[in-house]
Amino acid sequence: MNPKNFKRYTVTAALPYANGPLHIGHLAGCYIPSDIYVRYLRSRERDVAYVCGSDEHGVAITIKARKEGISPQEVVDRYHEMMKRSFAEFGISFDHYSRTSAKIHHETASGFFEDLYQKGEFLEQTTQQYYDEEAGQFLADRYIEGTCPKCGHEHAYGDQCEKCGSSLSPTDLINPKSKLSGSTPVLKDTKHWFLDLARYTDFLKNWILVDHEKDWKTNVLGQCRSWLEAGEGLQARSMTRDMDWGIPVPVEGAEGKVLYVWFDAPIGYISSTKEWAAEKGIDWEPYWKDEGTKLVHFIGKDNIVFHCIIFPAILKTHGGYVLPDNVPANEFLNLEGDKISTSRSWAVWLHEYLEAFPGKQDVLRYVLTANAPETKDNDFTWKDYQLRNNSELVAIFGNFVNRAVVLTHKFYNGLVPALGDLSDIDRDALAALLEFPEKIAASIERYRFREALSYVMDFARTGNKYLADTEPWKSIKDNPERTATVLNIALNIAANLAIVAEPFLPHTAAKMYKMFGLSGLNWGDAGKHGLLKTGKTIQPAELLFDKVEDETVAAQVNKLMETKKQNEMAVAPVTPMKDIITYDDFAKLDMRVVKVLAAEPMPKSKKLLKLSVDTGLGTRTVLSGVAEHFKPEDLIGKQVVMLINLAPRKIMGIDSEGMILMAEDKDGSLRLLLPGSETANGSTIS
Ligand code: 2FM
Ligand code: ZN
Repeated sequence: MNPKNFKRYTVTAALPYANGPLHIGHLAGCYIPSDIYVRYLRSRERDVAYVCGSDEHGVAITIKARKEGISPQEVVDRYHEMMKRSFAEFGISFDHYSRTSAKIHHETASGFFEDLYQKGEFLEQTTQQYYDEEAGQFLADRYIEGTCPKCGHEHAYGDQCEKCGSSLSPTDLINPKSKLSGSTPVLKDTKHWFLDLARYTDFLKNWILVDHEKDWKTNVLGQCRSWLEAGEGLQARSMTRDMDWGIPVPVEGAEGKVLYVWFDAPIGYISSTKEWAAEKGIDWEPYWKDEGTKLVHFIGKDNIVFHCIIFPAILKTHGGYVLPDNVPANEFLNLEGDKISTSRSWAVWLHEYLEAFPGKQDVLRYVLTANAPETKDNDFTWKDYQLRNNSELVAIFGNFVNRAVVLTHKFYNGLVPALGDLSDIDRDALAALLEFPEKIAASIERYRFREALSYVMDFARTGNKYLADTEPWKSIKDNPERTATVLNIALNIAANLAIVAEPFLPHTAAKMYKMFGLSGLNWGDAGKHGLLKTGKTIQPAELLFDKVEDETVAAQVNKLMETKKQNEMAVAPVTPMKDIITYDDFAKLDMRVVKVLAAEPMPKSKKLLKLSVDTGLGTRTVLSGVAEHFKPEDLIGKQVVMLINLAPRKIMGIDSEGMILMAEDKDGSLRLLLPGSETANGSTIS
């Protein structure tokens, strides 16, 4: 199962921007798929380097720093550590996790730029770019906002409209505004170094659309085709930027400019490999330069052009490097029907997930793989999470393993019982042992991780059904030999299951190995009956999965609904200010702290409550239109703010002697204005 007989594998996962915590979209996009692939390769005893690291340059970082009022360095230091920890907690088993601020990376990326520069590969062009005169700097695309010329969206970025998905240039925007100062930017001359991508068109067309026509995913080929076959052809791309955060452009006349983040980031894979190899005391070069190396880039679909067109063009021009054998990009994962968004906090953050579901990393790994956006965008819902946990992991996988182990303890003191005569049903079960590892491997090798996982689950289902059909708990009474045979086979299926499940559910597999007293097994051992020999001691059953209750998922859904509400309120307009008044106007208002002594609904009114309040000057009756927001008992005993010199008004036959003041939220809901601590009734407010 190594069709081209590769000698070694270099597997990369997109370097995440160090500008925020990781969420489920990250895991589903490329980290779980790459980790499954690598764990499988290691299990097959292949030579693998699995590298990643934090992407610490670019506007994503400087925007975050501005928003938080801290330096870009502080941003990357904070999130680099946090992301590294989350990856480790979820079992993403990088051989090395580096960062693009590392010295070795600055040297490697600068080296690439200098090499291309010396070969005369760059077009030096002076173009006009937007400049913010108030802030005194050129504006990166993401620092410019304006109206999208295609769909009219008023907050399109300088490089893209997030509403209609169009790629844009800053000068396409109608009414552009600087996000730094809010002013209208002006166009100013600036020199940059462009990669003339059109020159690579023939090479790229042949390499991608012909050589890899059959083995690359259709979503990846589709995007490549649309770039390569677009009417206007590939456009030259600037590999430098006017910024002060990043890797300085290593040529004369480029002061104040840095490398384009998409020039340096993919080179980060190479720097990470160098760091890894140095720590291990081995040579990094074969992992990038030997033709026997299979290079695979795992990414999300928004990174396709950079990994299939721009980075290969850079590698090819530099020369001496292998090109990716595959770029199995995933589509996007949505959350409860909406696009995952860091800025809108519409996400399930990994660190928060672990607080709510300690020890359940594998459940999330399972759900995100079973529902992976491999061929189209998919949706994560908490309902689906609960269903897959309860009816697949608990009811099938966990139930099977648990029954095999518990029955072995119950009937055989935890020792693997002997295999006796085999019946047809036993022979079928043993045939499954041979069949599944091959099927699962074939799917993994083709990057079909959903399919592979469904076979793993079918394998568990086979074991579960075998126990249900053979009923060893019944045969123990009159045919104990039969029970022994069945449990021997069931335990061996479970041990095999641990091997093939390990790439997907590493924490679970580790628990299973511990129960079975096994270690050091790999894929080559799968398919064998006899991993657990007669007489071997099995440890007591450890629960692999437990039920997720309705309340638990309801709490997660409520949390998201609260976020949605906050987001809606954040965009709802604030009521404009009323006309200016004089101090004398204000001084006429007599507002006091009062205590609600009694409250009752007004008969025949949906809106009014009748309140009796202690104003410090005596008790008064007030009718307040708050019945749809508060129950009488919400108010009784509370101190609130009241305008006490409002002329009395007769409402439904009752004199209302003042007005209780409330805050009205953007969504129309009312909040009481409460003094921060107990205050004497009648205290004035000024
Ligand atoms: O999209 C992103 O999050 C980028 N930071 C991915 C970079 S991948 C690679 F090129 F390093
Ligand atoms: Zn648009």
